[in-house]
This record gives sequence, structure tokens and C-alpha cells, in this order.
Amino acid sequence: MAKPVTQFICSACGSIHKKWSGRCDNCGEWNTIAEEAPLSAGPGKSLGAVKGRAMALTDLTSEETPPPRQSSGLAELDRVLGGGLVAASACLVGGDPGIGKSTLLLQAAASFARMGLKVIYVSGEEATAQVRMRAQRLGLADASVKLAAETNLRDILTTLDAERPDLAIIDSVQTMWLDTVESAPGSVSQVRAAAHELVTFAKKRGVAVMLVGHVTKDGQIAGPRVVEHMVDTVLYFEGERGHQFRILRSVKNRFGPADEIGVFEMTGAGLAEVPNPSALFLSDRDTPAPGSVVFAGIEGTRPVLVEIQALVAPSSLSQPRRAVVGWDSGRLSMILAVLEARVGISFQGLDVYLNIAGGMRISEPAADLAVAAALLSAREDAAIPPNCVVFGELSLSGALRPVSQAENRLKEARKLGFSQAIAPEGCKTGDGAGMELKAMADLTRFVGDIFGA
Ligand code: TYD
Ligand code: MG
Repeated sequence: MAKPVTQFICSACGSIHKKWSGRCDNCGEWNTIAEEAPLSAGPGKSLGAVKGRAMALTDLTSEETPPPRQSSGLAELDRVLGGGLVAASACLVGGDPGIGKSTLLLQAAASFARMGLKVIYVSGEEATAQVRMRAQRLGLADASVKLAAETNLRDILTTLDAERPDLAIIDSVQTMWLDTVESAPGSVSQVRAAAHELVTFAKKRGVAVMLVGHVTKDGQIAGPRVVEHMVDTVLYFEGERGHQFRILRSVKNRFGPADEIGVFEMTGAGLAEVPNPSALFLSDRDTPAPGSVVFAGIEGTRPVLVEIQALVAPSSLSQPRRAVVGWDSGRLSMILAVLEARVGISFQGLDVYLNIAGGMRISEPAADLAVAAALLSAREDAAIPPNCVVFGELSLSGALRPVSQAENRLKEARKLGFSQAIAPEGCKTGDGAGMELKAMADLTRFVGDIFGA
């Protein structure tokens, strides 16, 4: 029989290592690697079981095909789930502590219950009285949701087995523990074992489960990334603490598109849906402001306009500052290098600050041109017209590359009162949505046309 192998897992990124080391090669974090006890010694002797047998796809009866999705009644949540909750699926909702995961899931629980689902909310962090208090504050005290406060997974599974809900919410997976695993609750072994049990239970008993996972910076407690591969859907709840906006983003979805976002606003009475996020990410745009550019972006299937702000100031440091909020700092360095090499505009001796307004985070390369425009606008102290949106990907040669869904971007801009767009040549813009379009082939042309340099 094969000898069980001990493996070492990074609690921050979930990568598996053969031996322990102080720093994870994969994510670069220190002191995050922990030993995980082997789960099993591998498959034993075959019992001639019929369980794992294969069958033809066309032979599957409707009993084996999953029922359609159940809407949550919250359109923003449905969108990130890919159209609603899939029965017997496992979903992980990760996010920083205090960002609003418990609030979101309690509201979702009440909403699903209103749609006719039987929902159990298991809290390992708060007592039932505290959850009830929160529900009262959210105006949900009369929702037909069952509550349980427990951390022992064996007890929880027994309860779930007896109750057979349609949906079980586990808040959070890091507080759960199995008596068969020796390490402390929150350790990589416990978190993975607990998630494994819950996901297996979900599939076997046809109960959908939603697991809450706190993103941790501390190696003592395993982060949600160590269970991402076990679940069907991974959602992250993001936002700046000081801002009221919260974005629920799907990073993995076996039943729908990833990269979809749902936007919420944290109010005194819980999370409110924001059906038209573009209006919210744009500040007051009546007067032209140097350094501010509106980017027409796409998040998942939805166009979203966001304001990109840049500030450039003389630096007193030998290594000028490059500070970025909401965008990739490596990408900023690249844009600065392209500007210097291809159009001869240098940011040497200047501090550069870049901010995506409203606490939004952008990862689309289509934002390159808007970022370059914001940087140039700040440096030249020349404002881009306030009725203009910008999008386009920048290549290292200084050429502008066409981006997808140009027509949708233009339509959204038109809807919000913009009348001009600067975009790369070759984009499929359809009829242009009635926008005045300035199509450009490269950065030199862009700088010449817009900044007259
Ligand atoms: P919570 O859902 O407890 O966060 P998590 O489960 O992700 O740790 O949310 C905590 C924050 O949300 C808290 O700082 C207060 C704020 N909040 C509101 O602003 N309004 C509300 O109605 C509620 C319930 C919370
Ligand atoms: Mg919580």
C-alpha cells in the first residue's frame, strides 16, 4: 500500500510544496507554509463497487441533470452567480474581515427564504442572539431563516442532515473544526478538511452550501485560497473600508462566466443593490479637471464607466514615488516606460499617484490608454474634455490595440451623457452609438492630437 505523504501548503495562496520553507516561492509571503496531515493513504482495494461507473451523457435522465437555477431575488447577486443559485453547488465568498460578508449572506439568506427556499444560517462567529440583532437592524427579523451557532462540523452536518435545507450558509469556514483532524481550528488542515466535508455533503445530499472565508494576512489562519479548488464558485467581496461601495466579483464559476461583478452600497440598514454603477463611480464632471479621465470599461458582461485620476508632482526623493490604488503597479511602470521610450515624455524626478475613483479595482488592459491619458493630462496640466471617454490597450511599441465590446462601451457612455470617445483604430464600434469617435493608431498620434505635443 502506498505510504501516506505529508505535504506542506501555503495558507495564503494554497500552493503545495514538498518541504517546509520560511517563504512561499509561489506568492512570496513569509511564514505561511504549514504541514498538512495526509487525508488518506490513497485508494484501497477495489470492492467491485458500482458507484464510480461511467455513463453516457445522453443517458442521463432528468433526475441526474440538475434543476434550473434559483433566483435569490437580489439581481446583483444573481448576476455573479451566473443567473442564480445552482442546487447542490458549493460557493465560497471570500473577503477582508469587516467588509460585509456576514451582512451580505444574511440578506441573501432572507431573500432566498422569501423565494421559497429552506435556508439554514450557521454562524461560528456570533451567537444566534447576535445574528438576530443584526437581522433586526437589517429589517429581516421576520424572515423564515433558521439559525444555528456551532463550530463542530459533526454536529452541523447532523443538523443539516436532519433538516435537509435547500441552502446552508456557513459563516465562516475558518471557525469550523472536525474532531478527526488534530490541528487547531483555522489551520490549513482543519479548513481544508471542513470545506471538503461540506462540499461532499452538498453534492451527496443535494444541499447548496455557501462558505464564508476571511482573507487573512497572518500565516496562523488559512485563507480562502486553500479551498478555492474544492468549490464550484468563488466570489470575492471587495471594497475600501472608508468607501460605502462594495463589489462582489466572481473569480471562478463552474456554472457561468467568471469576472462578473455585482455592486452594492453599504448603508445604515445593510447592503443596497446598485443597478447602475457607472453613475456612482463618476464624480461630478461639470468642470474639466487635469489628471482626470473617464475610462469606458467592461466588467464581466456589463459596461462600467470609471474615473481614473492621476497626480504628478516634483519629487524630493532620489527614487520618486509611484503610488497606485485600484490598478496594477507593474502595469503603471510599463505605461510610464512606453511614454518615455515612444513619445519622449519622461516622468523622471516626478512623483506619480494613480487612483481609481470609488474604490473600484480594474484589471482590464483596455484601461491602458485612459491611464496614459490621465498621466499626460496631469503632467501637462491640460484637461481632457469632460464629455469624453477613453479606452484602448497599449502595446510596448506604442501602438494602440483594439479592444473587445467597443460598441457596448460607447452605448454606456452615450447613456450617461458623454458625446466623445477616444479609442484605438480597428475596434468594432457598430454604428458608434451616436458618439463622436476619435480613432487612433498609436500613442504618437494620440499625444499630438489631444495634447498638441
Ligand atoms: P460584517 O458583515 O460583519 O463583515 P464580515 O462578516 O465581512 O466580517 O460587516 C461589518 C461592517 O459592516 C461593520 O463595520 C459595520 C458595517 N455595517 C453597516 O454599515 N450597516 C449595516 O447595516 C451592517 C449590518 C453593518
Ligand atoms: Mg462576519
